[in-house]
Amino acid sequence: MFGGTFNPPHSGHVAAACACSEQLKLDKLLLVPTAVPPHKQLPALTATSEQRLEMTALVSRLIPNAEASDIELARGGASYTKITLDALREMYPHDELWLIMGTDMLESFHLWREPEAICSVARLAVCARDEGDRQKIADAAQRLSEKFGARVDIIDNVPLPMSSTGARSGSESKLPECIAEYIAERCLYLDIDALREQVSGVLGEKRFAHTLGCEALAARLAQIYGADERICRASALLHDITKELSLSQQLRLCEKWSIIHDYDSDNIEAVIHADTGAAVAEHEYRMGKTVCSAIRKHTVGDCDMSLVDKIIYIADACEETRRYPGAAGTRELALRDIDAAVISNMEQTVQRLANLGKKPYYKTEQALACLIKEKEGKKINE
Ligand SMILES: [Fe+2]
Ligand SMILES: [Fe+2]
Repeated sequence: MFGGTFNPPHSGHVAAACACSEQLKLDKLLLVPTAVPPHKQLPALTATSEQRLEMTALVSRLIPNAEASDIELARGGASYTKITLDALREMYPHDELWLIMGTDMLESFHLWREPEAICSVARLAVCARDEGDRQKIADAAQRLSEKFGARVDIIDNVPLPMSSTGARSGSESKLPECIAEYIAERCLYLDIDALREQVSGVLGEKRFAHTLGCEALAARLAQIYGADERICRASALLHDITKELSLSQQLRLCEKWSIIHDYDSDNIEAVIHADTGAAVAEHEYRMGKTVCSAIRKHTVGDCDMSLVDKIIYIADACEETRRYPGAAGTRELALRDIDAAVISNMEQTVQRLANLGKKPYYKTEQALACLIKEKEGKKINE
């Protein structure tokens, strides 16, 4: 049994678990996310229990014979290890049980509830968290063996000093890819206030006011239509992040991130920032696919727009600081029928460009056709 908050599980957990699985020749390794850890409070920006279990299940695929167990989450309440081990003993009456832990846990083990009883049910497998831990582990093992009859196996692992706290704040990048992706996709652990602050330092006053208007409307639309509010806020905050760069700077970004574009000289200035913004959101702000897609589509739209895509598209078009004729009407419509609002706004764009003797970017025409078809399909289904 390897317990932890797994908030999030990181490469240190995976390396320790792999070393245990191999050296102890484990038939099964249970990764057990704790319900309410008795010794620590979960941080303010935290994953839900379901998300911690999902992430644990994802990393279990990287470890031989491992699986995620919801034994403590399902039981609820304080996750005392002794209760869990008793349950595991009942499930596996003839097997040898090990409790896997890191150096810090071993050193505080005497403070746990019923340490002696735990030692009678399971052996302890200890992984160093730091190269300098070996002596500490040996000393603690000696003490625990004398006091509680602990049988301690010291695992010869390559320590990866890494904490979930560091992984959450993004200061350490050694997360398994599946976890980094999981976190990015959901904007998990993302401090929206800090992101807003960061964006305010990048954008000029007027554009930042527009960005805040976009965020406010996107959050409101997310509530109305049941989209993820944090994802919508993050997308709105970053949607114009490259808009103030010059065309040559934008083109350099296209080269840097291998962005393939086919804008003509008529529309490149107006639309290129959507693509470069999405790339910057992905590479520099570590946003997931949903956010990047919404940024990429916010100016011209596309076929196959998700709810978040539509919310950011329309929030950008008609947030409170937009003063063109029809903005307030589009906003009203967006609150009642977002599809109708997106279609209406695209039709107005096509018309406005036509009046100037310009052709709209082909993706806008495609998007419009797709959305009209999608809306008709919805009507028929109703
Ligand atoms: Fe924009
Ligand atoms: Fe915008």
